This record gives sequence, C-alpha cells and structure tokens, in this order.
Amino acid sequence: MELLKKKILEVGRVEGDGILKVDSFLNHQLDVELLNEIGKEFYRLFKDYNITKILTAEVSGIAIAAITAQYFKVPVVFAKKTQSKNLDKDTYEGEVYSYTKDITYKIRVSKRYLDKKDNILIVDDFLANGQALLGLKQIIDSANCNLKGVGIVIEKGFQKGGKLIRDKGINVKSLAIIEEMKDGNIIFK
Ligand code: G4P
Ligand code: NA
Ligand code: NA
Repeated sequence: MELLKKKILEVGRVEGDGILKVDSFLNHQLDVELLNEIGKEFYRLFKDYNITKILTAEVSGIAIAAITAQYFKVPVVFAKKTQSKNLDKDTYEGEVYSYTKDITYKIRVSKRYLDKKDNILIVDDFLANGQALLGLKQIIDSANCNLKGVGIVIEKGFQKGGKLIRDKGINVKSLAIIEEMKDGNIIFK
C-alpha cells in the first residue's frame, strides 16, 4: 500500500534494536484518515470471504480493527491481556510468548462473543515473531470458528513470524513488508 509506505518513510524511526517506531500514526497518536485507507484496503483484500467478525488483541489492534469493521459491517472482538473483574469467567484462552520480555502471558475472549459459525478476519498492527497471532489462533481453534485471513499493517519480513504463520496455511496479507532496516534506512520488500 503506497500511501502507508510513504508515511512509514516520512515519519517512521528505526531504533537500534530492530524496532520501528510509528507512534505518530499507529501506536500512540492515530492518523484516522490513514487508518481509514487501511480499513478500505483490508476490505478490498478480504471482502469475498464472508467475514462475520474481526478479531484482534488489545491495545494497538483495536483502532485498526474498529475502522476496518465499518467496511465489513461486522463487530470487532478484542482479546484481553488482563483478567479483569469485568471479563466473563467463561473464556477461550490463548498463550502468547513475548521474546522481548521472555514471558508467556494469556489472552482471553469471552465465550459469548465467538460462535462456531463465525468467519474470522484477524487484524493487527505488526507481525514480528507471530506469537500474538498464534495466541489468537488458539482462541479461534478452541471456539471452533473459521479463520479466513489475517490482515497486518506492517510486517517485519526479517523476523520469523511471517513464515511461521504462512507455513500453517493461513492467508496473511501485509500492507507493508519491511525487508530490512539498516543504518536507519527502511527497505521494503
Ligand atoms: P509478535 O511475536 O506478536 O510478533 O510480537 P513480539 O513479541 O515480537 O513483539 C511484542 C510487541 O511489540 C507486540 O505488541 C508487537 O506488535 C510489537 N512490535 C514488534 N515489533 C515492533 C516494531 O518494530 N515496532 C513497533 N512499534 N511494535 C513492534 P504487543 O505488546 O503485543 O501489543 P500492543 O499492546 O502494542 O498492541
Ligand atoms: Na499489536
Ligand atoms: Na504493538
């Protein structure tokens, strides 16, 4: 997606440890007009899959999922990372291993909001190691619903998540794939 790549080149900052900071439009401040174009693009890519629900994980996925859902006219469900009092007791759980923190944490979705007839589109901001996606897939599998596709805003093609997820036969579409980040320069695939 050219508009997105242009934005990444304009305002993205490469941190020393292979992290791309895009706080000014995606992870802190939100560029709603750009998110709108991202939502349209996900709709164009997945409109023929009879999507009935969009699934993501809190926090950064929610804005993208909500804007995308307006085009599909379906609800968004986001997996929660903390076991709050407000969350139903009866949940589907997924495990997410965080490489950065070297811990495994649980994400949860109430059983009320996933039905075995649901056709799910997952959306997320980044695909790096793919662990968040694996956790969401666990939830989808436990609920016995159908994973139709995954829409990612920025894939870090030099990390192993993309291959890991595609090798499972999952239909992943990333709007920008970064091949390499070297000396502060971003090179797209
Ligand atoms: P992964 O296996 O799910 O791909 O993620 P990983 O543990 O490698 O990364 C941990 C968190 O950092 C994830 O967010 C992921 O989206 C995010 N991330 C990974 N690489 C980058 C990057 O280069 N730039 C930015 N801005 N983020 C990156 P999270 O903690 O699960 O979620 P959230 O609360 O931010 O939504
Ligand atoms: Na995320
Ligand atoms: Na994130």
